[in-house]
Amino acid sequence: MSHRLTGAGIVAGVVGAPVRHSLSPLIHNAWLAGAGIDGAYVPFAPPPERFAAFIKGLRGGAVRGLNVTLPFKEEALALADRASPRAAAAGAANLLVFETDGTLVADNTDGLGLLAAFAEQAPGFDPAAAPVVILGAGGAARGAAAAFAGAGAPQVRVVNRTLSRAQALAEALEGPITAFALSDAAQALAGAGAVINATSAGLSGEAGLDLPLAAAPASALVMDMVYKPLTTPLLAQARAEGLRTVDGLAMLIGQAVPAFEAFYGAPPPKDVDVRKLALAALGQSEGRLKE
Ligand code: ATR
Repeated sequence: MSHRLTGAGIVAGVVGAPVRHSLSPLIHNAWLAGAGIDGAYVPFAPPPERFAAFIKGLRGGAVRGLNVTLPFKEEALALADRASPRAAAAGAANLLVFETDGTLVADNTDGLGLLAAFAEQAPGFDPAAAPVVILGAGGAARGAAAAFAGAGAPQVRVVNRTLSRAQALAEALEGPITAFALSDAAQALAGAGAVINATSAGLSGEAGLDLPLAAAPASALVMDMVYKPLTTPLLAQARAEGLRTVDGLAMLIGQAVPAFEAFYGAPPPKDVDVRKLALAALGQSEGRLKE
């Protein structure tokens, strides 16, 4: 099917600073075209200090909703009139929906995307079966910790370079969450079912974390939220040590699925290979990834 956009089309989009490299317009517009939905998904890059004014303007109507990316996720939650429990737990919103009366509702689908990535790339993985290790203590780590605590993980071990930030995260969230310094990572990795990188280390070719992955069980899964490059230093290390991996692109697509439904009132079409499109945009292919 082709993309159609008429005067009756539904408009949604993504807001970030920068937003130039977001893959969300590519993903959502491919789904819109595939489903033959009359709608559009557009990028917005307001000056960071004008974000609140930008959101206020949209309360007048016309835009159905927004995905929110860095650095606005926390502010988006604060500006909303209502928040879902998962957005409140994550302390951040990646999804805003404007109701017809201008009410702004915040949600967070990053945790769903994270769990969907595991379900897709590691079928049979049970988040409730063993402790999970989260690397990092920023917003991304908090969302991941909340998602795994909510999915019944027996322990969530937050490992961070700055221990005090990991401790603050453990205190802010409900659930069996414990804090570790990066120097104690081996202790945290013992018996882990999954290891998730929610730090910015390894982003865009920067040196990755130097983790003692040998301390993790051979059955542990290693996931990196960074998807540029798709094979991050951590995922390359995990594969070299024979551990199974889950990539950040699966999470990006996984968080977009419920957002698309919220905007356009229908699930994304199953027959559109948005992963392939995203890989092409990233300058990668599945074939090259396996080399
Ligand atoms: P976000 O909100 O996007 O998660 P953030 O709040 O800037 O981002 O957090 C980035 C995380 O990456 C932090 O946990 C940071 O560790 P510190 O709290 O010690 O700063 C972590 N991080 C970034 N670069 C790192 C590196 N080279 N090695 C280890 N941790 C790193």
